[in-house]
This record gives sequence, structure tokens and C-alpha cells, in this order.
Amino acid sequence: MANEKNIILTGDRPTGRLHLGHYVGSLKRRVELQNSGRFDAINILIADDQALTDNADNPAKIRDNIVQVALDYLSVGIDPNKSTICIQSALPALHALTFYYMNLVTTARLSRNPTVKAEIQMRGFADEGLPAGFFSYPVSQAADITAFNATVVPVGEDQLPMIEQTREIVEKFNRIYGETLVFPKALIPENETQRRLPGVDGKAKMSKSLGNCIYLSDDAKTVKKQVNGKMFTDPQHLRIEDPGHLEGNVVFTYLDALATDAHFAAFLPEYANLGEMKAHYCRGGLGDGTCKKFLINVLETELGPIRAERAKWEADIDAVYDVLREGTKRAVEITNETLERVRAAMRINYFNDRSIVKEWETLLKAAKLQ
Ligand code: TRP
Repeated sequence: MANEKNIILTGDRPTGRLHLGHYVGSLKRRVELQNSGRFDAINILIADDQALTDNADNPAKIRDNIVQVALDYLSVGIDPNKSTICIQSALPALHALTFYYMNLVTTARLSRNPTVKAEIQMRGFADEGLPAGFFSYPVSQAADITAFNATVVPVGEDQLPMIEQTREIVEKFNRIYGETLVFPKALIPENETQRRLPGVDGKAKMSKSLGNCIYLSDDAKTVKKQVNGKMFTDPQHLRIEDPGHLEGNVVFTYLDALATDAHFAAFLPEYANLGEMKAHYCRGGLGDGTCKKFLINVLETELGPIRAERAKWEADIDAVYDVLREGTKRAVEITNETLERVRAAMRINYFNDRSIVKEWETLLKAAKLQ
């Protein structure tokens, strides 16, 4: 086997600034994993090639958002000394691996991917025509994951089909060409609400087009406005004394995802924890204004330091560029090494040495003898 190390690979498409949904669903966890010391390597891929599969007409959008995503990473605490941040399009081995893996996957199998199916609907590709690149991006994602020899892939729930697909490719590759690729495992958030934080309007996942996001780069005023202006509580909770309901109550959904006992000690010491606060709300006597104010405090506790860190990096974009360049350089080496191994396993590494000359000579001689 290639290695028995503990290696992380994860990534994001650079199609916009990252938001609170990304933060609670994935970024926060990445930083914890990074700082846990449990991993031999942590790689974070800015998946610009994948982003192009549904933005071919707008490469400028991807280009502009690479720096936004890099700033988001650095500001939440991804440390370039501990993690490798790299740009997908600058890793040629990924393109080659994708091309080989394409042969190990059927179009029927790709058609069954539930996440891609949903995305096809959302983007209107069902009517307009489906770009082949978009249809097959799970194969390129398998290349991403295997190229880094990743054992652990921390992702949101919607990415499970990609990991499943990757495991099938690994299984098939190893069966045909011999043990070469490492099997990855997905790591998804344990907390249900962290997996799928709804937008501030409570309707769906946070998404730029719905305008229901809280961005990591939003200022305090904007965050407050989103909470006070757009967030639903309980429409039946008209007077403070009325019993309140938690179901569909977005303020409490966010608190479920974010609030810790320390937040209560700091901002709402009349409750020890969220359980006590919820009980009071349901009993009646706890106003929505108080709940929102508490949530804003919780959000600021999380977002304040992120915002400050972002400001530091924003003042030195040269340094951000260097982080990307250095990380990508390291990633080129790692992924090229995997491509070499893959080509060796497939015995298509023709120019490594001249041993194939002997092989061809023997073959020709044997043919003559017949
Ligand atoms: N598909 C992922 C997303 O949309 C981004 C991604 C690309 C990724 N390559 C990856 C995630 C490899 C994990 C591992 O968010």
C-alpha cells in the first residue's frame, strides 16, 4: 500500500465568499483537526477546476473568488504552517488521474449520484443541456482525494456520494492494477444542525442567490441586520408570557449549532445551558428579543476574531499569494508522486527507464519464432 498515514484532504469550490454554513458544517472542524496533532498531513484544495464545470462562461468569477476563499481559510485559523492550501488547476496530475478514472466509471453510475442530480435540476441543465465536465466532476473529485492519499475527507453531508464514488474507483483500480490507491473515509459533523444550517430565512441551506447568508466576512452591523431583520422565531409567540415553540424556530436552530455553556456564562448567566433556556422559552416568559440578542452575542464571539484575522491578511495580499504558491508547490510534488505510482501500476510509465525496450524486443522475437 502507498502509505498508512493519516491524511486529510478537503476542499471548496471558489464560487463565492464562505459563510456561516460552511463554518459550522466544516471549517471549524478542519481547524480542530488541524490542531489535534492526529494527522500527518492536512491538505485543503481550492477546487477552481470543479467550479469551472458549471461556470465555463465566467472564469473571472472563479478567479476573483480564489482570494476570498483563501482569506476565509486563513481567517478562521487554517494555519499554512500546518496545512497545505493549494489551487486545483495548478496540479496537472489531477487532470491525468481524472482521465484514467473516467474509464473505471460508467455513465449509468454517474447518473445515479443524488447530489449531482439535484445540482443538475438547480442549474437548469436538464433543459439547457448538461456539460460533460459537470456530469463527471465526481470522477475529478476522486482524483483530488486519491492524489493526496487521503484517508479522511471532512465534508458536508451532501458530499457523501462523492466519497462513495471515490471508494468504488479505488476498489476497481486496485483490483485491476494491483494495490495502489488508498481508501478514503468521509467525516461529517455529528451535530444534525451543524450538518445543514438553514439560511437566516429558515427556508433552505444558506445560498448566495437566496440572500439568506451570514458571511464570515460580514461586518457586525450586517450580521445584526440579518438576525433582527430576517430571522424567524415562533409566529405564535405573540406575548412574552405565551409558551414558545422550538420547531422551525431559526434562532434556536442557530443556537443549537453554535451556543456553548461558556456563551451562557458570558451573556445569559440566568441559564446554565441551552437546555434551560429552551425550557423557559417553551414554558413562556422568555422574549424573542432576548433570544436574538443572545444569538447576536454568540455570533459575534465566533465571528469577531475571524473578522480581525481577515483584516490582517487583507492588508497583505502578497502574503496570501505566497501561501497559495508555497502550498501549491508542495501539492504538485505529492500529486505527481501519486500519478507516477498510478502509471507504474498500469504499466504505462514508458519513459521512466528503458526496460520496456527489452520487453518489446523479446515480444518481437517470440512473434518471429511462431
Ligand atoms: N465538491 C466539493 C464542494 O462542492 C468541493 C471539493 C472538490 C472537494 N474537491 C474536493 C471536497 C475533494 C472534498 C474533497 O464543496
